[in-house]
Formats: sequence, structure tokens, C-alpha cells
Amino acid sequence: MSNERSSFTGKIGFVLAAAGSAVGLGNIWRFPYLAARYGGGMFLLVYVILSVTFGFSLMVAEIALGRKTQQSPIGAFRSLDKRFSFVGLLASLVPVIILPYYSVIGGWVLKYFVGFMTGEAGSMAESTYFNDYIAGAGQPLLWFAVFIGITALIVLFGVQKGIEKVSKVMMPALVVLMLFIVIYTIATMDGAWDGVLYYITPDFSHFSIMTVVAAMGQLFYSMSLAMGIMITFGSYMKKDISIEKSTHQIEIFDTGIAFLAGLMIVPAVYAFSGGDASALKQGPGLMFVTLPKIFETIPGGTVLGAVFFFMVLLAALTSGISLMETIVSTVMDKVKIGRKTCCLIVLGFSFLLGLPSSLGFSQAWSWVRPLGMNMLDFFDFVSNNLIMPVVAFFTCLFIGYFLKPKTLIEELEVSGPFRAKGLFSVMIRYVAPLCVLLILVSSVLNAFGVIVI
Ligand code: PHE
Repeated sequence: MSNERSSFTGKIGFVLAAAGSAVGLGNIWRFPYLAARYGGGMFLLVYVILSVTFGFSLMVAEIALGRKTQQSPIGAFRSLDKRFSFVGLLASLVPVIILPYYSVIGGWVLKYFVGFMTGEAGSMAESTYFNDYIAGAGQPLLWFAVFIGITALIVLFGVQKGIEKVSKVMMPALVVLMLFIVIYTIATMDGAWDGVLYYITPDFSHFSIMTVVAAMGQLFYSMSLAMGIMITFGSYMKKDISIEKSTHQIEIFDTGIAFLAGLMIVPAVYAFSGGDASALKQGPGLMFVTLPKIFETIPGGTVLGAVFFFMVLLAALTSGISLMETIVSTVMDKVKIGRKTCCLIVLGFSFLLGLPSSLGFSQAWSWVRPLGMNMLDFFDFVSNNLIMPVVAFFTCLFIGYFLKPKTLIEELEVSGPFRAKGLFSVMIRYVAPLCVLLILVSSVLNAFGVIVI
């Protein structure tokens, strides 16, 4: 990938590729359960504010860094300032942690797709199905292996382009299907409207520092920030394309899909549970428990369910591919091994690293709870709430005080005026590093039970 530095054809090519990496399980699976858990409208408001200020600035910075240096993360930082090489290294570690557990969830999606195809829709709609399923060690492990195996095959044979073409057609179709489900739920289910209100009206009594911690972690995850991916994308971007406009487009696209996914799931949870807080706080299983119930009430829901999970599977695959591709190209930059060998090593390593996340829910292993979390949540926490804020902090520090925002502003202005440059400088120098630090400290204290927020 980084040996011959190809570039994207045209403007829309870049936006679509970056959006393909950004839109994935983060939007459809992770965003809704966080929104439900951390106060509905309040979470949404915090997320949107962070996204247009902080997320925007960081994404612009990463893309510009990549385009300026024409290198992948490690090389980008090293070439500008040796003392900051560790930031690139740390950023490259994030996909290594995310890919394994991402694939465990990809495996759940695959299982649900197959379940809808093979007449299991009825039993999947039962409340206990999901928890029983993940508690049984063998099956989830098998589907996890299949998911990560498919991802590796695609990367190995270099057929990403084909998959991306298919997903470009499927993503708009997914949006239409989600819209349909939203309208259907609101129109037919008692109590769904209250759920819509919970989801869109900010209630300040639901605000806590954890709302901000969760929203910021989600922002990194969903927009593929603070893990070097946007630096890599930037290095492929042509000089005549506006980084500012592209960033706006990716942001709108990514946040729009997340918003819609929340609108599809949160009101339904409300309707099924009568606004019961414990149902809303359920966490990672939320989508898998709620959606089959919705499909059960829709005429022809089994077919719709299969189609839906197939599309989610594609979105998950394109993100999984970009995670694996990043790891493979980073490793290949460092050690001189062939692409095939490299893919196999990454596959083997990721499978091993994914075992605890997959088995962590089984009876035999569920007692292993680092920091009081199940293994999957733990890996999710370490990458999103610990390493990514650290990467973001040092990225801001480096750009704000060593490289200077001016250098990146010049890079942006190569392709036309940069309208938000004032906001950009202030964010990168003052607001972002302070916020990230605050959040890092509170999430660490919270995790270790020093303060409960
Ligand atoms: N942003 C992706 C999502 O929302 C996850 C991802 C992270 C994909 C990093 C690629 C790289 O699902």
C-alpha cells in the first residue's frame, strides 16, 4: 500500500473511501447503545458539538499531516520531528487492538444474517437469545473466525476495490432501509414517540462527565481518528482537493448514519420496555436484542432482517478491511516480508487477541473482568478511552506548539481558502488538548473506581 503511493481519483473518490472506512459498526452498533446509555438527547448534543469543533479540527489536522508528508503515520511524525515518532507508533497500535474485537462483533452480525436466512428469526426475537448465544463459547468463536477469515482473504487477494464498489451501492440502500424501519417503528409502536423525545431532547439532569468521555471516545472511533488512518488517507489525497470541504462531507455522512441508527434503535427499546432504564443501559448487545424484535412485528420482517444484516455485514467488512490493511502496511513498512506472509501473521495474531473478547462472555471465562468490565468492553475502553486520547493529545501538542498550525494551514490553502482556520488554530492549541487531558484523567479515575461519575 505504501510502497507505491497511489492517489485517489477525483474528489468524490477520496470522500467515499474515507467515509467507507468511517461508516461501520461504530455508527450502527456502538453509537445507539452509547446514546441510550448516556442520556439520549444529552449525549447527542455533546456528540454533535464535539464533532463540529474538535472532531473537525483533528480530522483536518490528520489529513493535512498525511498529505504534507506523503507518509503513513509513523513516517509522518518521524519526518517532521523525531521526538514525536512515538505518537505515530502509538497510533499504529490502535488498529491492532480494535481489529480483533471488531471482528468478534462482525461475527455476531454474520451469525444474525445467517440466522435470518435459516429460519431462526423467531427465536432470535426472544429477549434471552443474544445473551445465551454469546455465553455459548463455540458458536461465537466460529463466526468470529469466519468473519476475520473473510477479511483476511479480501486483503490477501487485494480485492478490496470490488468490495468497496458493492458497498457503495449497498450503503445508500442501507440508509433507505433504516429510514423505513424508523418510520415503521414510530408509526406502529406504542411508546416509540417517547423514545424519540428521549433521544433528541437534551435533558441536563442526564449530563455527567462520563457523557463527554463516552462521546469523545465514540467520536475517535467513528471517524477513525487518533489511529493514523486519516494520515494514511491524507497521504493518498491529491493537492487540488479541498481538505476542509471533504472533512465536512465525511463528518455529515458519518454523523448522519449514526443519528439514523440511534433513531432506529432507541425508540424501539423504549417501546418494548416502557422506558425502563435498565433496558436502555444494556450496552453492546442492544442492537442485537432490539432489531430482531422489530423485524418480528413487520410483515415480511424475516426477509428484511436478512437484507439488513447483510448490509451491516458489508459496512463492517469494509471497516474491518481498512483496519487490517493499515496493520499489514505498517508491518510491511518495518519488516521486509511478503504481503502474503504478513497477512497470515496479522490474521493469526488478531485471532489470538480476539479470543478473550469472544470467550469473555462464556460461563467458563466470564469471571475475568479487568477493571470490572467484560473483555470486549475492556479492549474497547483501552483503545478508545485511553490510547486514542493520548494520541490525540500529543498530536495537538505537536501541531500546536512544535510544527505550528500555520504549517498545516498552508497545506490546506494549497487547494483554496481555508475558512475555519481561526477555529482550527484555537482548537488545536488550546481547547482540544485541555479537553482531552480532562477526559483522559476522568476516565482513568472512573475506571479505577477513584471517582464514580
Ligand atoms: N470507524 C469505523 C466504524 O465506525 C471503525 C474503524 C475504525 C474502521 C478504524 C476503520 C478504522 O465502525
